[in-house]
Amino acid sequence: MTSRRPLIAGNWKLHKTLAESRELARAIASHVGSGLACEVVVGPVATSLAAVKNTLAGSAVGLAAQNTHWEDSGAFTGELSPVLLLDVGCGHCIIGHSERRQLFGETDAGVRKKVAALLVHKVVPILCVGESLEQREAGQTLDVVLGQVEAATEGLDAVALGPLVIAYEPIWAIGTGRTAKAEDAQEVHGAIRARLAELKGESWADSVRILYGGSVKPSNADELLAQPDVDGALVGGASLSPDNFIPIIDAGVRRAES
Ligand code: PGA
Repeated sequence: MTSRRPLIAGNWKLHKTLAESRELARAIASHVGSGLACEVVVGPVATSLAAVKNTLAGSAVGLAAQNTHWEDSGAFTGELSPVLLLDVGCGHCIIGHSERRQLFGETDAGVRKKVAALLVHKVVPILCVGESLEQREAGQTLDVVLGQVEAATEGLDAVALGPLVIAYEPIWAIGTGRTAKAEDAQEVHGAIRARLAELKGESWADSVRILYGGSVKPSNADELLAQPDVDGALVGGASLSPDNFIPIIDAGVRRAES
């Protein structure tokens, strides 16, 4: 049994109106209640953060943002900051999702600044890394993924990195219905932990939760979560309905209790 508490995180991406967000949050909060053996967070669109926070009141479900800028405030039209995320009640923020890297030009350097800024404000970054299909087929998976992890944590020691969460999300598995085989996920998760141990020290590396993301669903969650270094899941499509997300939460509870 690992001492790392599993984390099941829902990434709602650009889905759900205010009313729909509240409804989904209500269903998840009523399942989780005052707490389960695994931690649960949900990541609604920015315009629903405050409403979802209200809906989650009294439950142990945490609130995550999907992105932030690294500055606290200023002339940055359209951006959010760690200060504002904290103000609205976010304990977590997804950073460096492959959609942001691919569609919105996010770079390793920007990702690093965002991770550092969130940590200063005690918002837990969920740092996403992952290789493309071409990179996997060219045998570059570990180089790419470990390079992203290194770049995002450069200059930050174990104390500064504290509660950082990493999500390994192979790009070819996101929203495609294609999941990494459990043993392939384990290979990458194990390699990330080993590299973190080299770079930042073993005891911190041992404590870091590494989530898997990419077409996680009720039918594959248990197998993925049975891997020794898979400490939870970052769930997109299947986080949008309680019928799919709640069984994944329950798989997280089983991992915690195994
Ligand atoms: P998916 O998305 O579960 O729909 O594949 C995961 C993610 O992009 O975080």
